Amino acid sequence: MTKPTNPKTFHVKSFGCQMNVYDGERMTELMAAQGMTATDDANAADLVVLNTCHIREKATEKVYSDIGRLRKHGNDPMIAVAGCVAQAEGVEIAHRAKVDIVVGPQAYHNLPDLVAKASRGELGLDTDMPVLSKFGALPARRKVGPTAFLTVQEGCDKFCTYCVVPYTRGAEISRAWDALVDEAKALVDAGAKEITLLGQNVNAWSDGDRDLGALIRELDRIPGLARIRYTTSHPNDMTNGLIDAHRDVEKLMPFLHLPVQAGSDRILKAMNRSHSRDSYLRILDRVRAARPDIALSGDFIVGFPGETEAEFEDTLSLIDEVGYAQAFSFKYSPRPGTPAADMDGQIAPEVMDDRLQRLQAALNRDQAAFNAASVGRTCQVLIERKGKLPGQMLGKSPWLQSIHLITDAQVGDLVEVEIVSAGPNSLAGIERVKQAA
Ligand code: 5AD
Ligand code: SF4
Repeated sequence: MTKPTNPKTFHVKSFGCQMNVYDGERMTELMAAQGMTATDDANAADLVVLNTCHIREKATEKVYSDIGRLRKHGNDPMIAVAGCVAQAEGVEIAHRAKVDIVVGPQAYHNLPDLVAKASRGELGLDTDMPVLSKFGALPARRKVGPTAFLTVQEGCDKFCTYCVVPYTRGAEISRAWDALVDEAKALVDAGAKEITLLGQNVNAWSDGDRDLGALIRELDRIPGLARIRYTTSHPNDMTNGLIDAHRDVEKLMPFLHLPVQAGSDRILKAMNRSHSRDSYLRILDRVRAARPDIALSGDFIVGFPGETEAEFEDTLSLIDEVGYAQAFSFKYSPRPGTPAADMDGQIAPEVMDDRLQRLQAALNRDQAAFNAASVGRTCQVLIERKGKLPGQMLGKSPWLQSIHLITDAQVGDLVEVEIVSAGPNSLAGIERVKQAA
């Protein structure tokens, strides 16, 4: 098969964070608005968009193996590399992997032009970072599932020394209040019952003197919207307004993902986190005072350059002190261009492996304990999809736990459920009274 020009079918594959999932959905809507047809089968598509992640080395390497796999299949689709690898590596990717389009996360509204360019046999390259122009250039939201993402903020000015985000996603920038309220309403009209507000530093969102707490209070007024979540937050941006929203806004789910990365003040300083162990813990105290049943989540990095065994144990003791409901943990991965990549004291792989294993054992223990403590609780579950067994449906508790139950409720319904048993990753419930969605 020869490389298609003017592709008719396309497939978007997103890697990495939820912001990429959101971008992938918007790219899909954009191509569909151009008259192209989405296909689930990457090997049958005329155009494949790989929406990539650059956060750790492993994620970055995936794009190259994926390109190889697409070609091995005998197919020769037009290939677009989008996302953070495209931003970080730019034209290099076209040299290394001979792709047709390279488009950064702030430029994908130009995909149709880039496809036209590639169809003429030229490289479609756009890694510009125009301030927020992409959102205004994207088609309106039409059809979404019961849970939807809404990017409210992009980029990061924090410059943690290990992190590529400030380079790939650019400076912190907030979308305007009106655009967000309109998009949230469109999402609800299109079927969303739950909206998760997204941003690399979502709680740094602001418009004038309005903070994320004010935006959440506004979204609370949208009829038909049942649940609001937000992710990912930075400790230094937990405003009083946002914490108060956890106390006052019933639709705001009792869940907070607040990465801390490490429990040692010396390591936090070397990471340029601009919070200490203690200031982080005091923030959690305030959040818990506002919403006592809040479930906490975090991100952790083991093996940051120079991390001693005692400093690693400080992270373990922080985990003991907090009691996370769930968390993500990673081995430190040196990223080109970040200050930490050039620091002395890079940690040996076997030490990283050992620390990650011990850290995850602690986190798994706490997650299992949190889930076990939920047994006997009655809560609302938002049904998200069908389960494997007949009559079984899957959904989420307010605390973001996966719940399975037998019910005749449909996707998008909210049901009252008693949690009857708990495993490490999911819980079983039985339906109580069905509620109107
Ligand atoms: N190495 C390992 N983990 C990283 N993260 C960010 N950069 C790196 C890196 N270089 C983790 C942090 C962040 C999450 C999204 O990814 O924990 O919160
Ligand atoms: Fe990366 Fe730190 Fe910004 Fe998070 S706050 S995106 S870890 S630089």
